[in-house]
Amino acid sequence: MCGIVGYVGEKQAQDVVIEGLRRLEYRGYDSAGVALVADGTLATEKRAGKLANLEKAIADHPLPPATTGIGHTRWATHGAPNDRNAHPHPGADRRVALVHNGIIENFAELRAELETGGHLLLSETDTEVAAHLLEVEVESGADLTQAMLAVVRRLEGAFTLVAVDAQDPSRVVAARRNSPLVVGIGEGENFLGSDVSAFIEHTREALELGQDQVVTITRAGVSVVGFDGTPAVGRRYHVDWDLSAAEKDGHDWFMRKEIYEQPRAVADSLLGRRTPEGHLHLDEMRLSDQELRDVDKIIIIACGTSFYAGMVAKYALEHWTRVPVEVELASEFRYRDPILDYSTLVVAISQSGETADTLQAIRHARTQRSKVLAICNTNGSTIPRESDAVIYTHAGPEIGVASTKGFLTQLVACYLLALYLAQVKGTRYGDEIDQVMAQLEEMPGHIEQVLAAGQTVYELAREHVDTRAVLFLGRHAGYPVALEGALKLKELAYIHAEGFAAGELKHGPIALVEDGLPVFCVVPPQGRDQLRDKMVSGIQEVRARGARTICLVEEGDDAITPYADVVIRLPKVPVLLQPLVAVVPLQLFACELATVMGHDVDQPRNLAKSVTVE
Ligand code: G6P
Repeated sequence: MCGIVGYVGEKQAQDVVIEGLRRLEYRGYDSAGVALVADGTLATEKRAGKLANLEKAIADHPLPPATTGIGHTRWATHGAPNDRNAHPHPGADRRVALVHNGIIENFAELRAELETGGHLLLSETDTEVAAHLLEVEVESGADLTQAMLAVVRRLEGAFTLVAVDAQDPSRVVAARRNSPLVVGIGEGENFLGSDVSAFIEHTREALELGQDQVVTITRAGVSVVGFDGTPAVGRRYHVDWDLSAAEKDGHDWFMRKEIYEQPRAVADSLLGRRTPEGHLHLDEMRLSDQELRDVDKIIIIACGTSFYAGMVAKYALEHWTRVPVEVELASEFRYRDPILDYSTLVVAISQSGETADTLQAIRHARTQRSKVLAICNTNGSTIPRESDAVIYTHAGPEIGVASTKGFLTQLVACYLLALYLAQVKGTRYGDEIDQVMAQLEEMPGHIEQVLAAGQTVYELAREHVDTRAVLFLGRHAGYPVALEGALKLKELAYIHAEGFAAGELKHGPIALVEDGLPVFCVVPPQGRDQLRDKMVSGIQEVRARGARTICLVEEGDDAITPYADVVIRLPKVPVLLQPLVAVVPLQLFACELATVMGHDVDQPRNLAKSVTVE
């Protein structure tokens, strides 16, 4: 949610900042802007809409050369997404400029105070208030770092702020509270970004900041202080992926590239999880075996696609560990006063590690003495840092707003967690765990096979270009797959799509079925006779009412053919692992349909990759 870049060094700041914004655009694309410090004045440009609009404006009216600058790409919270509300926001005398991610909760009272003092605020944003306050501080003699410290002490809410002072081109200053910010460490230059992709082409050395810290970057170095002014140190780390991972690699969309990366991502997420003796070993697991043996309830919290990964995890965790599992939307969790204690394990699933709803939920869980385990794809992000244990997925950067490889690798991490708990608690024999691990290790090949048949799914998608509604049915672990299939279509094709548990169909949703309505049916593997047979009945019921059934069926299951208008073949895999292959055709379908409909697949309307507001 909002992308932020800051730069000070020897290069042209405009180029570095715009390039950084391009890589962060997935975080928000309602507007974009830059501010440069050039010869003692601010040079700014900002435009509503995508980054391309800003680039065009700069091409028409070039900005002066400068080596210090900041930039922003916005996902609107306060005020409409227009030029006026776009960041950066200057102070009253245009001496400082500031960009912001988050929400300043007490902005109304601060705004009233400024207006009473004669300040004229030009936008509807909460951000502009911080810009004016900051400028007041520097004009009264504070340097930008001291001024930032004075301002953040007055702000409530969640924010990353990054600012420049026209009279001090040597520094860029940022503050962080409950909102992401990392520092990129270069030679003779330093960077700030919402995440490392902002500066990955310049440096892979990064510094992770803590909460409530102010950082100052100059050409020569980086210094960090707490909001109370005491010196602090960040954690330095090396980013283990490079620029090529953030490029499209010949695909039309990042999302399509990420779908095709799934075999590799799943394989990477399984790497190094077994000791030479064959024991499961999760090296980011900072909970002791005894603490895990004491766990008598698991609550999984997540949002969006990650929530559906959690729903699949429930089937695996309960089956392999016999521990009861609840799955809850993070945004609802703390408001129902959940029953938590030290023996409850809260599992937070988040690709980005920055989702505010999930973050607040784990904070609540920790105040109730529960242990929190994060499943996350982003090293150094806030959720894993505030958790007792982490299983990192190794999907590499996910740029497409709609999650794909993030989802598959979350599923892998959930299976690993379930097997690990089963091993520690002794609820499964070692050879059973070995058997599932061997099956998991075969999954990259199976996913490859589904992708190889992608053309059939693409053709199917093209046939549906005029479709306005689609249903998805599944049972057991196939039910979350149906929900995820529907979510992908909503996100990308803006089509009314719903996923249902197939057994629930007859209790209401079947009324939606009419002639020609496409209904995707995720058929459980034949090994689960009862489940599969009931699914076949459900398919017959919708078909009898005119639905066009598109059945995802394992190879060799021909009994389904008479009831299927279209058959998509899936490899033969165990029922609990079937989501890893069954969701892939649904991703391909949504990606292709949105493409032929002319939508922006990587940046769907109204969405953002990382939602850092509640
Ligand atoms: C946003 C994204 C979704 C994502 C959800 C949870 O809404 O648009 O694609 O599934 O956040 O994100 P997380 O990073 O916590 O997994």
